[in-house]
Amino acid sequence: MSVWAILVAAGRGERLGLDRPKAFASLGDEPLLAEPLRRLDACPWVDAIVLVAPPGWEEPAILLAEEEGCGKVRACVPGGETRSDSVRAGLAEVGDDALVVLVHDAARPLLSDDVVERVLAPLSEGWDGVVPGLPVGDTLKRAAPDGAVQETVSRDGLWAVQTPQAFVAETLRRAHAGGADATDCAGLVEAGGGRVKVVEGDPRLLKVTSASDLDRIASWL
Ligand code: CTP
Ligand code: MG
Repeated sequence: MSVWAILVAAGRGERLGLDRPKAFASLGDEPLLAEPLRRLDACPWVDAIVLVAPPGWEEPAILLAEEEGCGKVRACVPGGETRSDSVRAGLAEVGDDALVVLVHDAARPLLSDDVVERVLAPLSEGWDGVVPGLPVGDTLKRAAPDGAVQETVSRDGLWAVQTPQAFVAETLRRAHAGGADATDCAGLVEAGGGRVKVVEGDPRLLKVTSASDLDRIASWL
């Protein structure tokens, strides 16, 4: 069984607000992208990697992969306008030998082998997709734009979902064939009637959105 990983790093990072894409923001003395790339390459469950770079940043992304000695990188392609477009660009480079595709956000640098193992395992039990998540701990309220609370929403059965997300390759290809958009890949698989399971994620899979997230992740390294 061949497991291919798509590392999506093509976002602009508008909320981070730097002069370069988020994947090339500094984490310690390296570009953010170096950490998740190195971890995916070293992961024993991953056979091959497709890197999806910010348009115009393919060269520096390939150079970084070479510098880090990431021998599993098979292709580096520019991403698209939305995250789903970027995943589609990566999927086009995934080999026909792929039975499973893992999709991971470069913005979540602290990937572990354990979480990869947790999302891969249920695929052999017949699930179409598996996502890591954390049960929602805070009380949830719906509010109007002016802040007026309208209702308290039950958090029963609610999960905050992360990446890496694992899919049967054929299912993921079908889900992306229509050109639809969703905030994660599982959303497209669910919309197509696929069975998706959530497993325990990892608080360290925090996604870098703002500068304080970068500081927090740097302190965990
Ligand atoms: N992503 C991508 N292509 C896009 C948009 C997002 O590959 N067109 C990737 C990002 O690089 C990131 C992940 O999807 O690894 C999650 O996206 P997000 O955290 O929203 O990153 P950005 O879109 O870069 O940030 P922002 O929304 O603040 O612009
Ligand atoms: Mg975004």
